[in-house]
Amino acid sequence: MKNIAVIGVGYVGLVTGTSFADMGNRVICVDVNEERIANLRQGIMPIYEPGLEEMVRRNVNAGRLLFTTSYADALNDPQAPADMVFVAVGTPEGVDGEADLRYVRSVAETVAEIVDHPVIVVNKSTVPVGTGDWVADIVSHKQPRPVPFSVVSNPEFLREGSAISDFMNPDRIILGSLDRSAAEAVAQLYIPLRAPIMVTDLRTAEMIKYASNAFLATKISFINEIANICEALGADVKEVAIGMGYDKRIGRAFLDAGLGYGGSCFPKDVSALTHMANVQGKHPQMLEAVMQINADQRRSVLLKARELCGDLSGKNVAILGLAFKPNTDDIRDSPGIDLARMFQEQGANVKAYDPVAMPNTARVLKDVKLCADSYEAVDGCDVVILATEWNEFKNIDLVRVKKLMKLPLFIDGRNLYDPATMYDLGFVYRGLGRGYGKPVTNGGAPQTWQSWGSWNSGVNREGK
Ligand code: NAD
Ligand code: UGA
Repeated sequence: MKNIAVIGVGYVGLVTGTSFADMGNRVICVDVNEERIANLRQGIMPIYEPGLEEMVRRNVNAGRLLFTTSYADALNDPQAPADMVFVAVGTPEGVDGEADLRYVRSVAETVAEIVDHPVIVVNKSTVPVGTGDWVADIVSHKQPRPVPFSVVSNPEFLREGSAISDFMNPDRIILGSLDRSAAEAVAQLYIPLRAPIMVTDLRTAEMIKYASNAFLATKISFINEIANICEALGADVKEVAIGMGYDKRIGRAFLDAGLGYGGSCFPKDVSALTHMANVQGKHPQMLEAVMQINADQRRSVLLKARELCGDLSGKNVAILGLAFKPNTDDIRDSPGIDLARMFQEQGANVKAYDPVAMPNTARVLKDVKLCADSYEAVDGCDVVILATEWNEFKNIDLVRVKKLMKLPLFIDGRNLYDPATMYDLGFVYRGLGRGYGKPVTNGGAPQTWQSWGSWNSGVNREGK
């Protein structure tokens, strides 16, 4: 059992703190946001993350998980002085694409000023290579009297929407430090998770995080580029991804073509890595292309809408899905939000619906009618854009949707639906990279839908 302080109670900090508490440690989470801490003390979650509320409640009730706005309480409790301080504050994109480290700096300064005993500072925020050394400098300069400390980099790889499961079942734990014994002390915390633990130096650990996110973003942009070529040539990118994914060297994961990546991580992390490379005089051509392709995917949906509707001015557009991915209420750099703005700029009237991200959306989108459900959103619309593949949308009553719409124009930004079914229902349907969705005369099944290989081999269409 360790005494752990977690600084920053957002998607990563709250999941990290709660998970460590669930593993039997005493955890106290600190945030500067007083409302957030007051709510958490009453059991009100600041974010939507499946399973989190129940896990927080269980550990609070067991007395292992506490919330405070006071660094002193979190770090220097005489009964339970913190052994380790996990830093999980945001590192948003700065004006030139760099990671903005103001929150990390503030934490380092405050910890240095307040902590009164030896401690390990563990950085979980995604930070540019070299930040661990920089944090160590800040702490040693800001300490009122010398107190021994070490810095360990421990990047986090959880995904929103499956954060608890990802935290508890990691593919690997990465620890970077110049102080091997500090890294090993942190490693002890993770032993119950039975994952491979890699101990390396600080800068390498920091780079592993960026390289991992950049690689995943590259996979997405790669398949989106293939989708665009598929579209021109009449092939179905969904089937292509399944076929590619059988090759163990390639793998099926992160080959879902569509609107591209959004969220609080891939966009800012690819951009920050590009910035780091540029500062060093390198030319990160592939990363530049990854970002360009990703931006183009969003625009391609607007172009499809113009192709189907003509001038968008005065047209009624429904956007289904505002969270950047399903199972989260996070709308940071969300394609759905971006598209709502793009359509508004074209003079369209936009209605929108998301199962959980409506309160966050209401704070950022003006003059968009936020609807109670999908059917209200599509009512009277010329065109529907599916921007997030929520389960709720998988089972939507498409017959009802079509009846409610003024025109049956449907752009599926996540390739959620089967083009043949949509055609049979009478929609003018456009996925991304699905060919044209035109039927052929082989028993009614459209060409873009047939895949005898995956059909005959007894596997399902996801290749599993
Ligand atoms: P977030 O914005 O959800 O939460 C950050 C929290 O830090 C906020 O509650 C904020 O009030 C608090 N904070 C800011 N300054 C503070 C200070 N000086 N002292 C105490 N609290 C302070 O951020 P997030 O999405 O959890 O991301 C945190 C970091 O983890 C980022 O670097 C991100 O790149 C990385 N990361 C995020 C994810 C993810 O899925 N969101 C996954 C892996 C890594
Ligand atoms: C991502 C990484 O997957 C995590 O490992 C990492 O910890 C996290 O970033 C981070 O550093 O913050 P997250 O952004 O929560 O996690 O969600 P993902 O599931 O990776 O999806 C990111 C975006 O890519 C979403 O907009 C999603 O719709 C899109 N995506 C994902 C695709 O367009 N195609 C795919 O095949 C997969």
